[in-house]
Amino acid sequence: MPTSADALVPVIRERLAQRILHTDVPGLGPVTRGKVRDIYRPGDVRVLVASDRISAFDRVLGTIPLKGQVLNQLAAFWFKNTADIVENHVLDVPHPNVTVCREAQPLPVEVVVRGYITGVTSTSLWTQYAAGVERPYGLDLPAGLRKNDPLPAPVITPTTKAEHGEHDVPTTEAEIVASGMVSAERWKEVREVALALYERGRTIAAQAGLILVDTKYELGIIDGRLTLIDEVHTPDSSRYWLADSYDEHRTPKSLDKEHVRSWLKSVGYTGDGPSPPIPDALAVELSLRYIQAYEQLTGRAFEPAPLPIDTHLARSLSTYAS
Ligand SMILES: Nc1ncnc2c1ncn2[C@@H]1O[C@H](COP(=O)(O)OP(=O)(O)O)[C@@H](O)[C@H]1O
Ligand SMILES: [Mg+2]
Repeated sequence: MPTSADALVPVIRERLAQRILHTDVPGLGPVTRGKVRDIYRPGDVRVLVASDRISAFDRVLGTIPLKGQVLNQLAAFWFKNTADIVENHVLDVPHPNVTVCREAQPLPVEVVVRGYITGVTSTSLWTQYAAGVERPYGLDLPAGLRKNDPLPAPVITPTTKAEHGEHDVPTTEAEIVASGMVSAERWKEVREVALALYERGRTIAAQAGLILVDTKYELGIIDGRLTLIDEVHTPDSSRYWLADSYDEHRTPKSLDKEHVRSWLKSVGYTGDGPSPPIPDALAVELSLRYIQAYEQLTGRAFEPAPLPIDTHLARSLSTYAS
């Protein structure tokens, strides 16, 4: 049984004051910061510490209590449950917010797989299709699709990785190979792996009453072999809908940050300039959704990481410190 909202909300409220904005783990060398993760490079491993930062429109909007932990633990769950499809970078999960991984040479593309036509951002398939873009992402799509309709078959809509602070740029599979970004042979492998991962994700999500609508994979090369890196099927890299809210009206409820995107849109923010601060009530609501997703998918009760966070982070990572 998933933990009830009534039981979770007070726990989440308590953690509003404990949100992880930045970490500074001693002995691991200099930290670099992605939008969501703090990255350390002690020796030849990569230590990814998932903070509570939330990003949308390719920028950091604020923090959501316990989000980093949910993200990291969900990624760990999915890495384990996809290891038969493709190797992954995970070496160790020494703390609920931390993954220690092997360093890869990342492919310069983000591999987005979509089973439905949806989205509100400029790169989303629905936005492009509704605006009449011809062959968005190089795809042949049937006429007359409605927003949130399933696609005839899952499709890949790749983007090239943006420089810091820039938006990702839509590309096509043909362009990736033609430009030499990825060899034709390697891309064939990427495509097969990405579609198999999505299929697996969709099946496990369905058993949890969720629809894995679309998702983004990052892949890299380690020792010459294709390897899944970063995170997989988390609510940050994926869009989930509640299956029982998806009907002929095509207005499904989201379990993910589509909620914050919609809220921003409703207050008139479209991605330019500083974003309005996220109200506590929305932060709690989002945290609840993240935790419920975790419990539904893993079938496990969520247990918040012990406090104080800094002390436990340092202790868990002491074997990597010098
Ligand atoms: N095994 C790996 N090898 C190299 N880079 C990785 C690996 N796993 C994740 N990364 C990179 O680490 C960073 C993780 O931080 P994150 O906050 O997710 O960054 P971003 O702002 O790019 O989303 C990303 O740039 C991701 O590409
Ligand atoms: Mg990322």
